[in-house]
Amino acid sequence: MKIYKGHLLFTPERTDFEVIENGYVAVENGRIVGVASQRADLDIADGELVDFGDRLLIPAMCDMHVHAPQYRNQGMSMDHELLTWLNTYTFPEEAKFADTAYAECIYSRFVRDLWRNGTMRSAVFATIHHESTRRLMRLFEAAGMGALVGKVDMDRNSPDALCETVDEAVTANESLIAEFSDPNGLVRPIITPRFIPSCTPPMLEACGRLAREHGLAVQSHLSENRAEIALVRELEPMSTCYGDAYNRYGLFGQTPTLMAHCVYSSDEEIALMSRQGVMAVHCPTSNLNIASGMSPVRKLLDRGVRVALGSDISGGHTLNMFRVMVYALQVSKQVSVVTGDKPLTLPEAFWCATKSAGTFFGQVGSFEPGYEFDALVIDDSDLNFDNYTLEQRLERFVYLGDDRHIAHRYCRGQEIKL
Ligand code: GUN
Ligand code: FE
Repeated sequence: MKIYKGHLLFTPERTDFEVIENGYVAVENGRIVGVASQRADLDIADGELVDFGDRLLIPAMCDMHVHAPQYRNQGMSMDHELLTWLNTYTFPEEAKFADTAYAECIYSRFVRDLWRNGTMRSAVFATIHHESTRRLMRLFEAAGMGALVGKVDMDRNSPDALCETVDEAVTANESLIAEFSDPNGLVRPIITPRFIPSCTPPMLEACGRLAREHGLAVQSHLSENRAEIALVRELEPMSTCYGDAYNRYGLFGQTPTLMAHCVYSSDEEIALMSRQGVMAVHCPTSNLNIASGMSPVRKLLDRGVRVALGSDISGGHTLNMFRVMVYALQVSKQVSVVTGDKPLTLPEAFWCATKSAGTFFGQVGSFEPGYEFDALVIDDSDLNFDNYTLEQRLERFVYLGDDRHIAHRYCRGQEIKL
């Protein structure tokens, strides 16, 4: 039993922070067994006290959409929109991951950078390559960080080096599923058809079958860019919307599903997401960089869609999820100028990156009994030079802070030191 003491800030509800000054969190076997403002109220006789003093203790970050093999391209090459951007910069880089030594080099830097930025859980796209994807999963395991990692499946409209047969894709997926078979493992496979333009109907059918047979989550891209949506309409003329195309193949909430972007989702698509529990992953940096548009996050929330946040490296340029929160808030304010919708608030953005996203991993992203203890200790002493409230201190860290303010990182109760 460990008992952590610090100023606790977290979002049990979407709309408000719960703030416990000098609070206590008791943790046993990786899970929270008690949260209280007084030591005596924990009702726990013994336990080792770890006192973080005047520091903030917050849930660790979840990045629910990120492309590990695009890490080398981070912060460059954003002078095209999606489809030409993919062909010009992204696919040539991803093709390099046939070389496992190259993959190991890039992926180890990537995992370390997620850690540095306080992201303890992520949903990650790898490439089509089995062995490189396996190495990435092993790197997450060795780090002790949680990840859903997808071997990407694609078989059309892509360079030969990034196309494979349906049989090859199924065999590689089944091998990874067998290797990472512990349902409670921190690192798990996720079925990852890249997006409709990259996958033939037989590939999409195979992906749906794999997800259903193995009870695995699914991740892909949805309604990100106007030219992409027009292409999907041509490729799937029977579908009533982009989301319906996934739905026909069992890839839209039949198992837990993440759909990145949802910038142009129609009313019908939003209703389908809401009804089938599909989680929208808002990636504001990416939407700004490759000029996709602005996702109407308030509308998604109001209509009952689950929402999380993603860095979407390298369409997005930063792995820092606090920075991504700020972009989400800024984009939402711009949307509100046009639509009159209420902009996102800081607690809402924080909730998206913690408790909302965390539902995808079980009970993660909050400080409540039963939740896994994923946490960051924030030393904001250089930002805290006047009588700020604890909530203002967190706000200033979100807007002004960076990884240098993260003193400790915990995933499932273990301190992670890389
Ligand atoms: N749609 C299909 N592939 C990708 C990708 O790698 N990045 C983004 N932003 N969108 C995509
Ligand atoms: Fe993406």
